[in-house]
Amino acid sequence: MYSIDQLELEHENINRVNDVIQAISLKILHGEEVPVEDLRKMVEFIRDYGDAYHHGKEEEILFSYMLEHLGPVAEKLVRSGMYVEHDQGRALVLDLEAALNEYETNPTEEGKLEIMTNALGYRRQLRSHIDKENDVVYPFAVKNLPAEVLEKVEEETRVFNDKNTEVREKYTALLEELEKKYDLK
Ligand SMILES: [Fe+2]
Ligand SMILES: [Fe+2]
Repeated sequence: MYSIDQLELEHENINRVNDVIQAISLKILHGEEVPVEDLRKMVEFIRDYGDAYHHGKEEEILFSYMLEHLGPVAEKLVRSGMYVEHDQGRALVLDLEAALNEYETNPTEEGKLEIMTNALGYRRQLRSHIDKENDVVYPFAVKNLPAEVLEKVEEETRVFNDKNTEVREKYTALLEELEKKYDLK
């Protein structure tokens, strides 16, 4: 399905950013300067692409149809599961940003640990969230949503994606720039 393929492709891109987070953390661990500007670019990627674009699309389209049509299982899987995890991701990014702000005014070793803890915490949280969606939530939706609802998911996904071409292009370019810079390509 186009809509699910697109969501899974976005997961791959988010995990590519997670790999950059790991590469940056290793450099900090080995004594290199904290690349504050690059980490701020990653915060922007996570917020605009990972959250507003990707989570926004999940919440607006697929998950909202699951809640409408799939009863208590969807309540548990989506509202008490995926929505809560989206909020946890948002909180980790907020903490990462606060750690970057603090480090800029007061660059200490403890500050480096705060940055790494929050960046790696986000990475761990998102990787597990993505695995659950790929392995459980999306297959459950495809198997159980009525065909006419899946058709609506497809159509609305196309409209959403067409409206957001600029976001996609901007952040794909940023991702490639960071991968090159941190020798991941
Ligand atoms: Fe999600
Ligand atoms: Fe997702």
